[in-house]
Amino acid sequence: MNVCVLGLGYIGLPFAALLARHGHSVRGVDTSESVLRALRLGNLPGLEPSLGALARECVSSGRLVPSGSVSRADVFIVAVPTPVREVRKADLSFVEQAVDSISPFLEAGNLLVIESTVPVGTTEKMASRLLEKRPDLASPEGRPLFFAAHCPERVLPGKILEELVEVDRVVGGIDPESTEKAASFYRGFVRGAVHTTDARTAEMCKLVENASRDASIAFANEISMLCVKWGIDPEALIGLANRHPRVRIMEPGPGVGGHCIPVDPWFLVASAPEDTALIQAARKTNERKTEWVLERIKKAACRFENPVFACLGLAYKPNVNDLRESPAVKIAGKLCSMKNGEVRIVEPNIDRLCPPLSALPNCRLVSLEEALKEANVVALLTRHREFEGIERRISAETLFVDPNGIIRAGTRKAGEATP
Ligand SMILES: NC(=O)c1ccc[n+]([C@@H]2O[C@H](COP(=O)([O-])OP(=O)(O)OC[C@H]3O[C@@H](n4cnc5c(N)ncnc54)[C@H](O)[C@@H]3O)[C@@H](O)[C@H]2O)c1
Repeated sequence: MNVCVLGLGYIGLPFAALLARHGHSVRGVDTSESVLRALRLGNLPGLEPSLGALARECVSSGRLVPSGSVSRADVFIVAVPTPVREVRKADLSFVEQAVDSISPFLEAGNLLVIESTVPVGTTEKMASRLLEKRPDLASPEGRPLFFAAHCPERVLPGKILEELVEVDRVVGGIDPESTEKAASFYRGFVRGAVHTTDARTAEMCKLVENASRDASIAFANEISMLCVKWGIDPEALIGLANRHPRVRIMEPGPGVGGHCIPVDPWFLVASAPEDTALIQAARKTNERKTEWVLERIKKAACRFENPVFACLGLAYKPNVNDLRESPAVKIAGKLCSMKNGEVRIVEPNIDRLCPPLSALPNCRLVSLEEALKEANVVALLTRHREFEGIERRISAETLFVDPNGIIRAGTRKAGEATP
C-alpha cells in the first residue's frame, strides 16, 4: 500500500520505518528541513534502539521516501505535535495544517488515521474540515467517501519499535466502516490485539490513560513530601506499602515530564473544568513537586556563598534524550536565575545544551567527573544508568539531593578513590 506519514518525530519516524519494513511504500513528510536532511543523510541521533539502522535501510532501499510535501496515497497517518498553550488548551494548529495539506490529494476510499493525541471530537472535526475543502468527497447524504479514524499511540520512549508491534491498540472510526478499515490496516503489522470502538472513545481512552498515570504519580509525589517532613525515606515506605497484595504505589520523583502525561490531562480539563477536580489536583501536585524539590536544593545551598550546583540529568525520564516538559530542565533553569550560583549540567544523552539553558551565562554542560569535582551541591534529577551509585562518589564536603529532595552529606573522604 502507499502510505503517507505526516510528522517524523518520536512517533512518526519509527512508525514510518515500521510500515516500510512491512512492505508498504512510505512517504515520510515533515515540515522541518533539518528532520528531512538528517533522515536523507542517515544521521539520526537518539536512543531508540535500532531505529537509526532501520530508518537508514528503509531510506536507502527507497521504501521510505523523506519529503517536504504530501502526495497521493492509500493511507494518510497524522503524527504531528499537539502541545498545550498557556491557557492550557490543546493547540490543534499542527493537526489542522497536516489535514489541510492532505486535502488536495485525498481520494474516495482513502484512509486517514490521526495518531496524534487529540481532544475528544477532533477526528470527527477533521473529517468535516476535509469535507468542507473537498465537497466532491461527500456522498449524496453528506457522508464522507473516505475513511477516518483515531488510533492513539501508547509506546514507551526507549522501546518504541518494539511496542509499536507488541502493545494492544485501540482503533475508533467516525463510522463503523472507518473503524474496520483502520483496524484491518493495523492488524497487518500489530501483534498485540487491535480493539475496535468509535473515534470519540478512542480519543478519550488515550487521554484517560495518561490522566490516570498522572494521578497515580501525584499520589506518590504527595506521599514523598509528607515522608520527608517526618524524616521517613519515601522509597523504603513505598516499598513496604507495596508489599500489600492490593496496593501498587508508583515511584515518586521531581515531577512529571515528557510530551504526554503533563499535557494530555489538560485536554480533559479544558473540555469540562468544573467536572475535573481530581485531574486538576493531580496536575497541580506534580507541578508543586518540582517547585518543592527546587526549594530543597536551594535549602542545601544556603551554607555556601556562591554555590556551584551539579544537576545530574535533564531528560524527563531515565536513559532517554527527551527533554520536553522535563522537571529537571525547569529546576536547572531556576537555579541559574538565582543571584549567586553556577550550574553544571551532566546529561550523557545530549551533546549540547538547548535554549533556554544554552543562553544562560552561568550554565554549562560538563562531564560527570568535572561536575563532581566543582560542585557544592549535587542534585540527582534523572536516574540515568550512568549515575548509578552516585552517592558513593560524592565528597564529604558536598551535599547530595536525591530526586525526592532528600538532602545528605557526601561520604567520600578527601583523597579517597571513587568506586
Ligand atoms: N513521544 C511520545 O512518546 C508519544 C507517545 C504517545 C503519543 N504521542 C503523541 O504523538 C504526537 C506526535 O508526538 P511526537 O512526540 O512524535 O512529536 P515530535 O515533536 O517529536 O514530532 C512531530 C513532528 O511533526 C512535524 N510536523 C509539524 N507539523 C507538521 C505538518 N503540518 N506536516 C508534517 N510534519 C509536521 C514536526 O516538524 C516534527 O518533526 C503528539 O500528539 C503526541 O502527543 C507521543
